Amino acid sequence: MSVQPKVVVKTHLPTQPFPLNAERKPIRTERLIIRPFSEDDLDGMYALRTQPEVMKYTAVGRIDANREETQAFMARFMPPEDVRTYNNIITLASTGEIIGVGGGVSRPESVFGWPEIGYLFKKEYWGQGYATEFLKAWLNDWWTLPRSEVEAQVDVQSVDGAGEVPEMITAFIEESNVGSRRVLEKAGFREFKQWNEPDARDGYERDVTLVGFVLSSADIKN
Ligand SMILES: CC(C)(COP(=O)(O)OP(=O)(O)OC[C@H]1O[C@@H](n2cnc3c(N)ncnc32)[C@H](O)[C@@H]1OP(=O)(O)O)[C@@H](O)C(=O)NCCC(=O)NCCS
Repeated sequence: MSVQPKVVVKTHLPTQPFPLNAERKPIRTERLIIRPFSEDDLDGMYALRTQPEVMKYTAVGRIDANREETQAFMARFMPPEDVRTYNNIITLASTGEIIGVGGGVSRPESVFGWPEIGYLFKKEYWGQGYATEFLKAWLNDWWTLPRSEVEAQVDVQSVDGAGEVPEMITAFIEESNVGSRRVLEKAGFREFKQWNEPDARDGYERDVTLVGFVLSSADIKN
């Protein structure tokens, strides 16, 4: 992923470290339970992460080769790493089946310097409103986390100048990912930039157009 030009701002962000997984309450929506990762989720996560149609939209761009790879992915969101991330398993409330994964990563790993949201759903559950239901509920939870004042290096196009700015949350998509664009727009995100770069993933010999989205805490409170 190419480095995007940054500017230093004063803002607020969720207080680090994040609450431990053990302290996080599951989020309940009409049809979903959104909850922290646990060791028992390996089979369900492996089923999700071996669907090529889903994995082509991830940073690796391919299915997991084996359960060990899935386990390594999950370890990024479980103790002791839980305090650095805010990512969740998404299950159907009616059956407990894992149908997706979604949540956030924070600076400095994110492309724009702001916390960044991502999500994936099993293909048989696409087009039924689950991503929209997840994202709205997850964001409601996100904005309730304790905040700290911070100085941050953020994407210059994500803010109006330097100085003190409202807190943002960001996302990026491939331009062709119409479904994900709709999900973000329905949750209030707005496009703030597009750029082209070589797709650096193994086996992807092409240029890709990426689109950055931002949602400001100022828009939530107004
Ligand atoms: C993108 C993705 C998360 C969408 O999930 P979903 O549960 O199908 O989304 P929703 O049902 O909540 O759809 C939200 C809106 O997008 C539209 N939409 C969803 N998929 C679409 C598609 N492929 N083409 C056009 N519109 C689409 C829906 O019609 C809906 O719009 P509407 O309310 O105006 O009718 C899901 O397809 C997925 O997991 N894809 C693979 C991984 C991925 O792309 N993740 C995002 C990476 S940035």
